[in-house]
Amino acid sequence: MQVVILKDALEVANYGAKLFCQQLQIKPNSVLGLATGSTPVALYKEITSLYKQQKISFAQASSFNLDEYLGLSGDHPQSYRYFMNEQLFDHIDINKSHTHVPNGNAINPIAACQDYELAIRQAGGIDLQLLGIGRNGHIGFNEPSSSLSSRTRIKTLTQATIDDNARFFADDEYQPELSITMGIGTILESRKVMLLATGAAKAEAIKNMIEGPLSASCPASALQLHNDAVIVIDEQAATLLEHQQFYKQIEAQNQKLQQKLADLPR
Ligand code: PGA
Repeated sequence: MQVVILKDALEVANYGAKLFCQQLQIKPNSVLGLATGSTPVALYKEITSLYKQQKISFAQASSFNLDEYLGLSGDHPQSYRYFMNEQLFDHIDINKSHTHVPNGNAINPIAACQDYELAIRQAGGIDLQLLGIGRNGHIGFNEPSSSLSSRTRIKTLTQATIDDNARFFADDEYQPELSITMGIGTILESRKVMLLATGAAKAEAIKNMIEGPLSASCPASALQLHNDAVIVIDEQAATLLEHQQFYKQIEAQNQKLQQKLADLPR
């Protein structure tokens, strides 16, 4: 795992946006894995700004989102399809018909999960998967005890996740307790993953993911198995890491190496 510790949430968003730029420069028709939640909002703002400055284009790209609430249609304001349109897709040049979010309103949700896996495969697999992390260590809606080789499926949300997400719903509003989520096995097949986390509330999950054992108790720890995972966090989310200084040292060496490579004669 490459662990990048930055000063604050803004630096985390800017770093993430830079990685998206690099990805689309190398491969303009990249298949992007996208995430919802509070954390990516600043990243999507920065990406939108880079698009307006013509520094990034999604014209040839396609996307697959991690998850969706089961029972909400895409035009429901709390659905993740709605979130993605509002936060990103409506502001950039991506072809909306090339954006995919699991269908929370499918007549046969089990078949919809299988279709989602197939669509990812037919697109050639995900090049760069963006992730957040729940306070309980979930990625997507893969709650603790999820199989580390799970595929897209229906998952029951833990009470902790329901409580964490209650802030997005009005008091008397229906809040789903089920979701459709890419599995951990699906996520691990992405060629590169980038997990963003900010704030002290994420410190314990970050510690468990990076320095804890590989365990379904912390689904994000499965990223220890990925050969190209970058974890981008702010100082607050890093506070419980035992080897903070070492990660910073590695990153400084990485930067030096990148500079050396950039200076090579072409
Ligand atoms: P958050 O959610 O960005 O709203 O903290 C992250 C997640 O639950 O994956």
